[in-house]
Amino acid sequence: MTVGVFFVIIRYIMGYILLKDVEENLKKEVTIKGWADNVRSSGKILFIQFRDGTGEVQAVINQADVEPSVFELAKSLTIQSSIVLTGQIAKDDRSPSGYEMQVSDLQVFQVAAEYPIGKKEHGPEFLLDNRHLWLRSPRQAAVLGIRDEVVFAMREFFRKEGFTLTDSPILTAAACEGSTTLFKTDYFGEDAYLSQSGQLYLEATIYSLGRTYDFGPTFRAEKSKTRRHLIEFWMLDAEAAFVEFEENLEIQEQLVSYVVEKVIGKRAKELGILERDIKLLEKIKPPFPRMRYDEVVDKLKIKWGEDLGAEQETEISKAYDKPVFITHYPAQTKAFYMQPDSQDNKYVLNADLIAPEGYGEIIGGSERIHDYDLLKKKIKEFKLPTKDYQWYLDLRKYGSVPHSGFGIGLERTVSWLCGLHHVRETIPFARLLNRLRP
Ligand code: 4AD
Ligand code: MG
Repeated sequence: MTVGVFFVIIRYIMGYILLKDVEENLKKEVTIKGWADNVRSSGKILFIQFRDGTGEVQAVINQADVEPSVFELAKSLTIQSSIVLTGQIAKDDRSPSGYEMQVSDLQVFQVAAEYPIGKKEHGPEFLLDNRHLWLRSPRQAAVLGIRDEVVFAMREFFRKEGFTLTDSPILTAAACEGSTTLFKTDYFGEDAYLSQSGQLYLEATIYSLGRTYDFGPTFRAEKSKTRRHLIEFWMLDAEAAFVEFEENLEIQEQLVSYVVEKVIGKRAKELGILERDIKLLEKIKPPFPRMRYDEVVDKLKIKWGEDLGAEQETEISKAYDKPVFITHYPAQTKAFYMQPDSQDNKYVLNADLIAPEGYGEIIGGSERIHDYDLLKKKIKEFKLPTKDYQWYLDLRKYGSVPHSGFGIGLERTVSWLCGLHHVRETIPFARLLNRLRP
């Protein structure tokens, strides 16, 4: 007996089922526990749009079929009331969920107070203030379901490819991505920073396990208020020994294509709720186009030597129906750890992956400096405190090898796959420049 089947039986004995198991429970007397999304009456019949979080069903309460007290109770139900229904479920094409329950009994946990989120349009600030309630709406539940699928697919991909999960610390003494966006906190009288990326720690664990990844919350005290920036977001960093520049890009395009395929295959219902154009996602297959930074400068006629902004990324992404790698940035625009290009050390062996449809950068990655003296020189050039990077330099002393890695932002990826305007809807409780609550 599988674990799944075991739990179905246990819940049946416990006296209720989950709607995800509705197919195995058709035309039997069953009990379900959940909430009323909507209640509507046509005199002698009441219709409840019912959800338990794992599925939906339309429940029908016929005055003639239930005790008078049950029908009275049903008439008192409001949106979001928490209830227990007993009856038989059958397939029914007229019901929006495809299933209908003929109710024989009803119990109420709570008749809900008047729900502040209605069918009418609400402004974004109102919805964010009520995020703890807004999460119940079908669209928000669909986004969270897709987020779950993306995480699951990424983990599956790395397991398949021989990467081991090694979690990086969140409290750190040194910056990974430059000092301007560091979140400072007090560590028993010493300055500590919330992690911007676990990369530097992965560069240690690859010497133990060859290929590693981490996945957790990361922090950037970004003063920018854009639709792509969160203060707290989730990043998966991956790192691999012996992987050089080109192979690093191949791992990324395989990963992204794998995630897209899994989301299309397993979350058709959620993508439907979000009215996402799946045809656009179906085109996401390797290889992805590559473009050098200098080509972008020529094409967009911008000044050489500056990092690319959201506007330029959007412009480039419009020319392709797949994500595009922008490679070989000027060393001065990027982080201290990036390996210079041996053809011309003005450039580094890095790539940003730009999602299509104007969603911007979802991955930043590079080959890393593996030479002790060069890294030491860079740490000086970038005016970083050598003391805090001594352990990182140490890694270049004991069997140092060429290696590369990248970090993929979960919320930007989910935002693109869901076709959302703003990343704030892709995380249960967004932390934004002006928002720490709820
Ligand atoms: O490009 P970034 O800054 O790269 C790093 O941190 C590297 N250390 C990663 C590595 O090589 N292991 O960040 C990686 C990704 C970005 O491409 C973006 O998707 C996401 O993290 N990201 C953000 N997402 C939401 N809000 C923000 N403020 C973000 N900053 C970065
Ligand atoms: Mg970046």
